[in-house]
Amino acid sequence: MRFDVVTLFPGFFAGPLNESILKRAIAAGIIEVSLHDLRGFGDGRRLVVDDAPFGGGDGMVLKPDVLVAAARSAKAAAPDSPVVLLTPQGRRFDQARAREWAQLPGLILVCGHYAGVDERARELIAEEEVSIGDYVLSGGEVAAMVVIDAVARQVPGVLGNEASPEDDSFPARLEYPQYTRPAEFEGRPVPEELISGHHERIRRWRKKESLRRTIARRPDLIALHPLDDEERELLAELEAEGGK
Ligand code: 6GU
Repeated sequence: MRFDVVTLFPGFFAGPLNESILKRAIAAGIIEVSLHDLRGFGDGRRLVVDDAPFGGGDGMVLKPDVLVAAARSAKAAAPDSPVVLLTPQGRRFDQARAREWAQLPGLILVCGHYAGVDERARELIAEEEVSIGDYVLSGGEVAAMVVIDAVARQVPGVLGNEASPEDDSFPARLEYPQYTRPAEFEGRPVPEELISGHHERIRRWRKKESLRRTIARRPDLIALHPLDDEERELLAELEAEGGK
């Protein structure tokens, strides 16, 4: 799969793409990332890419001619890839979308900046618009990197193992706590169940702790994925234990 990124800050991507899983996937030729420097499409001798907003206000707006030229150039290089604009006004990016996009030959990720992009450029180039969450970032670069990482992980071969069906959606429950050696650290022992060697006790303990954590931190996931029979039992145990 290929990722084409249109950005004013191509240097931003060097670090994340040169570590760990993404580095390996690129070296193996499973994914490819091509960076398109917006500056190269800037106007005039000074390669101007932005201008003040009509009507006034803070910040600068990416110029439509520059953004459209850069996006069309990326599209010419990757004609089968949809153009995705990273913007806080986009639909929320999630695991389902990551899985869906991993089926595509590629994605063109356009990083917005400053006060935003000229509305006409948005209309002309954006096939999709996504945000990664409800907070304000300085630009679309961090968001584009998040999308690349989440999508690449769903591409067969990137994680070594072939596609695992449980990755189909964000997990219904948060992960249970994990421990490694030593068995006691700063006076804190590993839960006795985990060193019991009793597989059924371990499984049940983990399921209970996943439930405890999900109820405490992500009640929205409980509403979305109702308790199964065993979880109803485990919830009764949690309630019997009190606010432990
Ligand atoms: Cl895609 N861009 C910016 N600038 N801020 C964001 C975002 C994107 N997603 C969340 N916050």
